[in-house]
Amino acid sequence: MSEKAKIVLDNKEHDLPVVTGSENENAIDISKLRASTGYITIDPGYKNTGATKSAITFLDGEKGILRYRGYPIEQLAANASFMEVAYLLIYGELPNAIELQLFERSIKRHTLVHEDMKRFFEAYPAKAHPMGVLSSMVSSLATFYPESQNPDRNSEAVNLTIHRLIAKLPTLAAWSYKNSMRHPFMYPHNKLDYCENFLNMMFSMPTEDYEIDPVIVDALNKLLILHADHEQNCSTSTVRIVGSSQANLYSSISAGICALWGPLHGGANQKVIEMLLKIHIDGGNVDKWVEKAKDKNDPFRLMGFGHRVYKNFDPRAKIIKKSCDDVLEKLGVNDPLLDIAKKLEKVALEDDYFKERNLYPNVDFYSGIIYKALRIPTEMFTVMFAIGRLPGWIAQWKEMTENGEPIGRPRQIYTGYNDRDYVDVSKRK
Ligand code: CMC
Repeated sequence: MSEKAKIVLDNKEHDLPVVTGSENENAIDISKLRASTGYITIDPGYKNTGATKSAITFLDGEKGILRYRGYPIEQLAANASFMEVAYLLIYGELPNAIELQLFERSIKRHTLVHEDMKRFFEAYPAKAHPMGVLSSMVSSLATFYPESQNPDRNSEAVNLTIHRLIAKLPTLAAWSYKNSMRHPFMYPHNKLDYCENFLNMMFSMPTEDYEIDPVIVDALNKLLILHADHEQNCSTSTVRIVGSSQANLYSSISAGICALWGPLHGGANQKVIEMLLKIHIDGGNVDKWVEKAKDKNDPFRLMGFGHRVYKNFDPRAKIIKKSCDDVLEKLGVNDPLLDIAKKLEKVALEDDYFKERNLYPNVDFYSGIIYKALRIPTEMFTVMFAIGRLPGWIAQWKEMTENGEPIGRPRQIYTGYNDRDYVDVSKRK
């Protein structure tokens, strides 16, 4: 590996430092390029730009590797609880038994949401998308806890905000669903663990208890772990950039929820099920839809296929596919959409268009089928992703803050008009 990169601009050679990560990933440090040469770099979509150094998640898209703080995602998904993984991402190490107990106890202590916030829900139309409701509610939390707005970022206050966020997000998420049904809200139950509590708030009614099924709890725990972090991406970078202005953590997370909502990011899980349903209703002709996805004059894309960084396979999709088979079998669910999904995957993987472009099923391809089997409504799928991704967003925000990173402020190449004079409205053509 070279220690310096050379760049020749206007016949002059400039040395640029090379930065190497702990997995031998190399980057050219261009942070002083403009100061020394007057040039900036351009990289729409940040496809080739390292926005930060981070010790949280390692991802190798070519080899299909994903690790949180060094631990392979396969081991965490098979053995850990979501609370352990949240602790690992945020505080850097797996908790010992006492640390885990204290963390879980603190989360349980903060699950209630201020009663005044319940009134906000009443103002939303029943058809309000729960992601819109969730991001507004999270943003509103900052107004209930003004100490969180203090930019001095005292670690005790930050820690309290972190615990409040993890504790309250499932309550707000379940209430946004109950609100859409115009059903009474169910309060959190602190005897239950994190996943059980969420399911109970979603599905129990004052008239009927919800029977917690360990198969469902286990599947949910796994899905949340698989979504917990994914290094730099649209929503995570949003959280970091919003936080870099010293905006409070609630506002930064609320912005992340908005970014996640888009169909090219977390919103894809909802779109996958809608697509499978459309293909099913249309008669299940998978080849026809694959052809549509390949047609450049047709805006249709195979949702749940392709990834900015995974160019071999998405390791999360591998785990989810297996979990999907297990869950459907254990719950005795026979979903025709699963057959369509399997056919689609097979046809697409054998097709040159998809092979040449390295388009493989991503994490969202199978997660929707599991959520459907768990009776989670389609519009809530991206909300589930947000609950899973929360510890990752928090860990990234915390790292950015603790490293004292500067405010995010990209440059641009201006392509508009040159200088011109103002013309009075009466004289304009
Ligand atoms: N169906 C058909 N063609 C596709 C698809 C697809 N799903 N994805 C990419 N392509 C084609 C695209 O048209 C382009 O072809 P060409 O080179 O001929 O112009 C080529 O593949 C490269 O695509 P791109 O849009 O330049 O790649 P990107 O890295 O900018 O986008 C992506 C990545 C995930 C946005 C994109 O693959 C996509 O839109 N997938 C469907 C949405 C989806 O499933 N999103 C969830 C991502 S996983 C969850 C998460 O972490 O957010």
